[in-house]
Amino acid sequence: MNNITINMNNFMTNHPQLKYIFFGGKGGVGKTVMAGAAALWSAKQGRKTLLASTNPVHSLSNLFGQNVFGKPVMVCDEQNCYAFEIDTRETIERSKKEIREKINWFLKFADITTKAEDFIESATMNPAFEESAMFENMIDLMFKDEYDFYVFDTAPTANARRLLGMSKVYSLWVEKMLKSKEEAKSLRELLSFSKKKEKDPLLDYLLNFKDRMAHAKDLLTDDALTAFFFVTLPESLPIAVITRFINWFYEFGIPVGGVVVNMVIPKDQVHKDSAEFVRNRVSMQNEHMEQIWKIFGDKVRAVVPLFETEVKGDAMLNRLADQLVRS
Ligand SMILES: Nc1ncnc2c1ncn2[C@@H]1O[C@H](COP(=O)(O)OP(=O)(O)O)[C@@H](O)[C@H]1O
Ligand SMILES: [Mg+2]
Repeated sequence: MNNITINMNNFMTNHPQLKYIFFGGKGGVGKTVMAGAAALWSAKQGRKTLLASTNPVHSLSNLFGQNVFGKPVMVCDEQNCYAFEIDTRETIERSKKEIREKINWFLKFADITTKAEDFIESATMNPAFEESAMFENMIDLMFKDEYDFYVFDTAPTANARRLLGMSKVYSLWVEKMLKSKEEAKSLRELLSFSKKKEKDPLLDYLLNFKDRMAHAKDLLTDDALTAFFFVTLPESLPIAVITRFINWFYEFGIPVGGVVVNMVIPKDQVHKDSAEFVRNRVSMQNEHMEQIWKIFGDKVRAVVPLFETEVKGDAMLNRLADQLVRS
């Protein structure tokens, strides 16, 4: 623990403009509870804070013992802390409707007499569709700018990176679309005798979309505003997962805030005559802690103990927050 060079508290002090934080890592390592603790901590600092889950399998309602599905609900005594599970189904339906309108319009524009449904099927049935709908939802929250601080409880493993990588793919795709649309349009204008200017909702939509993606990318790659934290346990698999994760993030230019090690068995609770099972787990954890210091070194921001119960409700979350952001 004393190996930490820059702890979470120092990190926050060094990044006074920080506004968007994320927690990633393997399933079950404690991303949701860390996100909850960080949100309560931020609210305690006097910032109006939103904790939003973009994970289709939500767990914030369970964490706070309140229904926070579909709209932001206040979850702390300070009255400035909100939790919000994004309604994926509604988002997907809305996006499908939008796409349907665009495709119908486009087919009419291009004089193509095909059933629009075939196009819509192929556009919305692919597995990335749900993720892009969630991504759109997330950046909508960011653009609305109604909070001082945002904590995102992201989907496990590769999804978070895909989510962000997508902004790059999106802009490439849109650029291609725009180019071929411009070509089609000038061809149409050349062939047409009428010089009247046509309104082009698809083009407007694409341009607007491109701007939104560029803006999202600006925010998400700004290391003054954004930080991704990676949660691991002192165990080999979660360490391997975040090692891979962190490298991907560097490649994408997404700011890595650091590593949080969770569920470390408190040494002062374990003695020579403790159960063998416990002593074995402690020695396994010790070995993996050495690995962690070797791999992540000065990126480790906190080492959080395994509590005697699960983390649920305000009291436990505040206890966790004290361990996560120690001064
Ligand atoms: N330090 C800890 N001590 C005790 N229980 C913990 C601790 N961190 C997390 N938990 C529990 O572990 C489980 C998984 O945590 P969760 O935050 O849901 O993981 P994730 O979001 O990464 O899947 C939950 O039941 C949570 O209460
Ligand atoms: Mg979770």
